Amino acid sequence: MRIVLLGPPASGKGTQAKRLIGKLGVPQVSTGDMLRAAKKAGTELGKKAAEFMSAGALVPDEVVIGLVEERLKLDDAKKGFILDGFPRTVPQAEALDAMLERLASPITHVVQIDVARDLLVERAVLRRTDKRTGQIYHLKYNPPPSDAELEHRADDQEDKVLKRLADYEAITSALLPYYEKRGLIRKVDGVGTPDEVTVRIGDALEG
Ligand code: AP5
Repeated sequence: MRIVLLGPPASGKGTQAKRLIGKLGVPQVSTGDMLRAAKKAGTELGKKAAEFMSAGALVPDEVVIGLVEERLKLDDAKKGFILDGFPRTVPQAEALDAMLERLASPITHVVQIDVARDLLVERAVLRRTDKRTGQIYHLKYNPPPSDAELEHRADDQEDKVLKRLADYEAITSALLPYYEKRGLIRKVDGVGTPDEVTVRIGDALEG
């Protein structure tokens, strides 16, 4: 399966991707995680991305497309993958199609996770990540253990979250008609416990 997880910031893409990789035996390819890792490592790409990310803005298409192209060439992606946070613009989707056409392995499913806007803000602002394990927690819905080394993402401040949501609505939502035309979209209600959402995604992938 070659899956795109599509949904606004904090809709649960990362949480669900981490659950699905075990079930499906394919890797998660998260551009957000890759960019944060590059930023932490202080690479040129990381430095370039950091200024956009901390402002809650999208990183330029050519930077992200190059990153995904390199990642999808690795062996573990040959059996399939879950794209989390990519594509986010129509040029990214077109570049992805072109890459996959060369590999004769097109996208098979696009799962759209739907969550109301007011819940998204709360999910992002109260999100915390364990630095050591990458595990995602939520101070209200999924509290971390007492020994976790918690990190609060700079772009999870409320003003940055609102900017990211506005960009999703203005730019990324154009991908819905892009994939709808090809009959790839599976719409999933993202409100409920993470377990409930995982079951819904599993059903959507089978249907
Ligand atoms: P990225 O990391 O991709 O951010 P995002 O898409 O905004 O998504 P999030 O990571 O915020 O949320 P999520 O949907 O994964 O939700 P999560 O599972 O964590 O990108 C960050 C930045 O990198 C971008 O702003 C941009 O600058 C850059 N970037 C990345 N990709 C790019 C691209 N393709 N092009 C250009 N720039 C790019 O869940 C959120 C919270 O909710 C957690 O606390 C979780 O515990 C909780 N939660 C999850 N599920 C539930 C549930 N069912 N009920 C209650 N709480 C839940």
